[in-house]
Amino acid sequence: MSDTNEDGENSASQAEDTPGTCGVDDSRQSSENMVRACALADLADDPAQRFDLVDAAGEPHRIAVIRIEESVYVIGDKCTHADVSLAAGDIDPDECSIECPRHGSTFLLETGVPTSMPAVKPVPVYTAEVIDGDVMVHLPVEVENSPAEGAQA
Ligand code: FES
Repeated sequence: MSDTNEDGENSASQAEDTPGTCGVDDSRQSSENMVRACALADLADDPAQRFDLVDAAGEPHRIAVIRIEESVYVIGDKCTHADVSLAAGDIDPDECSIECPRHGSTFLLETGVPTSMPAVKPVPVYTAEVIDGDVMVHLPVEVENSPAEGAQA
């Protein structure tokens, strides 16, 4: 781990030591690749932002990166009730959640689970970590070493 922070912030290095991850799921069968979303400092003034990333297989991932103090959370950016960007919602740092700006469903950032109607399905949760001041997101990709009939989603 680097002890150099080009932004001169102690927070980034603290976040590096305790990656702002939540909802870590190590049970996935797919491999993952890490893609840079933004600099941690980019989230200082606007702590919830949408990014469109592409994984190694060329698949798009529309994500919301949310910063609460020194923790970073990454969830799917599309509300499961309708196609609305969750990054435009209000963050509740005490509940570690974000509220959909259209109808008010609240999603837990650690699990993606909605805690209020009308949304009932969870949003995807991505593992993320801060490396040298950059928010790096683990994007799952399908394993290519098996025949097409054995491919897993
Ligand atoms: S669009 Fe998000 S709760 Fe309806």
